[in-house]
Amino acid sequence: MVDSHCHLFKEYYDDIDSIIKLAKENHINKYITDGVDGKTNEEVVEVVNKYPEVYGTLGIHPENVDSYQEKDLKFIVDNLNNKKIIAIGEIGLDYYYTKDNKDKQILLFEKQLLLAEKYQMPVIIHSREATLDTLNILKKYHVKGIIHSFSGSLETAREYMKMGYLLGVNGVITFKNAKIKDVIKEIPLDYLVLETDSPYLTPEPFRGKQNSPMHIKDIATFVATLKNISLEELETATNNNLVKLFNINVEN
Ligand code: NI
Repeated sequence: MVDSHCHLFKEYYDDIDSIIKLAKENHINKYITDGVDGKTNEEVVEVVNKYPEVYGTLGIHPENVDSYQEKDLKFIVDNLNNKKIIAIGEIGLDYYYTKDNKDKQILLFEKQLLLAEKYQMPVIIHSREATLDTLNILKKYHVKGIIHSFSGSLETAREYMKMGYLLGVNGVITFKNAKIKDVIKEIPLDYLVLETDSPYLTPEPFRGKQNSPMHIKDIATFVATLKNISLEELETATNNNLVKLFNINVEN
């Protein structure tokens, strides 16, 4: 199995070796770690160079719009020729905490979409309480990618799928009363990928503890049951989706 979205940063994990070892024991073979700012993007490059099983993405998250510098964007561009860097992300819009910096967020988002278009890289999209703006902006760029932690309606899901985007499913789906269950039930397997978003969004029954990539297994089991398919069928489909999008090897 593959964890298509996690944050293997030093600030969360003292010992990335043991996190990977533990995940491996739970049959997680590959990981994609997503940068969110200048500092973590540097860590992503370090980690992908060290571990053959880890791929990475580089981006400035909308929550870091007030602190990023131009040199952080230059670092992204300078490292896109690294074969283990497979996308630009995590990028997007987040109006949950504030909408006051909306214009700045959109500017940063579009700068990075332009880079993705120019260098023909997929994108990893973060969109919280910003569906309409995200959709309208993405429509302007010829890029493909993943809507990370998708939490919208079936109608929104269909819009994204029409544009060729995959939808990332994580531990939120295991939470009691999570509306996303009904939506994911209806989504064709060709559009789903599994992610932990570690260290956040720990699935039930482990909620409250720090998340780690080994929990992909718990998310996969939940989704397979929900969709009334075997774990193998889900694994094969979601792995194929990642191979098609990123052209990566998901085997051992
Ligand atoms: Ni994330």
